[in-house]
Amino acid sequence: MAGAVSTNDPTQTPKRFHVKSFGCQMNVYDSERMGDLLSAEGMTAADSPDDADVVVLNTCHIREKAAEKLYSDIGRLRQPRADGSRPTIVAAGCVAQAEGAEIAVRAPAVDVIVGPLAYHRLPQLLEQARQQRAIDIDMPPVPKFDALPARKVTQASAFLTVQEGCDKFCTFCVVPYTRGPETSRPAADLLREAEGLVARGVKEITLLGQNVNAYHGGLNLAGLIRELAAIDGLARIRYTTSHPRDMDDDLIRAHAEVDKLMPYLHLPVQAGSSRILKAMNRAHTRESYLASLAQLRAARPDIALSGDFIVGFPGETEADFEETLTIVREVRYAAAFSFKYSVRPGTPAATMADQVPEDVKDERLQRLQAVIAEESLAFNRSTIGRRCTVLLERPGRKPGQLIGKTPWLQSAIVSLPGAKIGDLVEVDIVGAMPNSVETVPVSTREGTAA
Ligand code: SAH
Ligand code: SF4
Ligand code: F3S
Repeated sequence: MAGAVSTNDPTQTPKRFHVKSFGCQMNVYDSERMGDLLSAEGMTAADSPDDADVVVLNTCHIREKAAEKLYSDIGRLRQPRADGSRPTIVAAGCVAQAEGAEIAVRAPAVDVIVGPLAYHRLPQLLEQARQQRAIDIDMPPVPKFDALPARKVTQASAFLTVQEGCDKFCTFCVVPYTRGPETSRPAADLLREAEGLVARGVKEITLLGQNVNAYHGGLNLAGLIRELAAIDGLARIRYTTSHPRDMDDDLIRAHAEVDKLMPYLHLPVQAGSSRILKAMNRAHTRESYLASLAQLRAARPDIALSGDFIVGFPGETEADFEETLTIVREVRYAAAFSFKYSVRPGTPAATMADQVPEDVKDERLQRLQAVIAEESLAFNRSTIGRRCTVLLERPGRKPGQLIGKTPWLQSAIVSLPGAKIGDLVEVDIVGAMPNSVETVPVSTREGTAA
């Protein structure tokens, strides 16, 4: 393509970048911030990696397959293009952090290797990479956030990382090793970033953290939510992901008191059997988890709940697994994500006895997903007849349609002439599908003009 530069040509400055995000919402946030950094350097975003001079692969290490995606992408990107050029390849994110040295050996085509806590140095690393491969997988004590430029978002709903890292060390999980110890950003910085977002038209902010409810940046999470709720123009607040152990009374009270805090909580339990939870080092039992949910439902009766589940953790028997099925029924989750246990080298569970055979994991995952699908459809059906707002976030498939979210994070298609992205539209929920709800705008229904 015209204007593309070869990585090996030191006389040209790369002009276009593409960031590809894998994994969790925090990676989505990080990808956006790396985009902000490169834009501040005068580069522009390309929609496709094929049109980019710099391609950042922001990787995830959570399950085995996630890392394999990095290597297959590198394989594709290193092939010379029609004009003989190839892009500068950046391996970022949690695989870069965990396997930086291995990437360097296995994928010589990678020009920059940068961890999730060091990506504020991306422009310098790109500069260095003109001479030789640049690697930064340090976990610096000075937070990267101070070094990032102002945000450029334009969406109706935006993420805001408030806490990063994890001290919980669940025996199956790599996150404490890839994201380091729990750290919280100062509340004053977050309020400033949030005000900036709202000034750019953001209506909803989702506070992010690997253990977001362990936030302690001068305020606790409930305190931060109350301060954010005072920002004019901010309509909705959400937060994710929470750990059951940190679900304290103050945060539960905030669900009763703060109107802008949406009635939805992602609170992963991982398994229904207390015996397995203990082996996972989850620091909660089935009973303590259900007790927290009962308190939450007392505070906010319409709260919708979601969770994460792992099937086939080492030693999981059929009886243990059935307790996972019964907890899904008992909680009546609105949504849930479920995964087969994936061995992560270096974590305690990797060397535990009684690893569950792959075919048993497959079969359990199917059974679990069937139950989850039934429960989420039942949840969507239970909301038929409710009147609520939908925040319009993106265009729908058909002309005149917009897609947004209800307070309970259901996808809702809205057809309302004159409505635009960023609007909060009042609707009645009139139908339920497995992954979305059908709505009628109140103004249409009552025959008033939009
Ligand atoms: N901090 C969050 C979740 C982080 S990872 C929490 O504590 O809940 C997101 C999800 O990936 C986890 O909730 C878990 O369900 C899943 N996961 C993590 N490690 C995994 C592994 N080794 N195999 C399969 N799933 C895993
Ligand atoms: Fe991983 Fe557990 Fe930490 Fe969540 S709480 S990030 S599952 S170690
Ligand atoms: Fe994956 Fe790292 Fe997030 S391992 S889930 S990208 S914290």
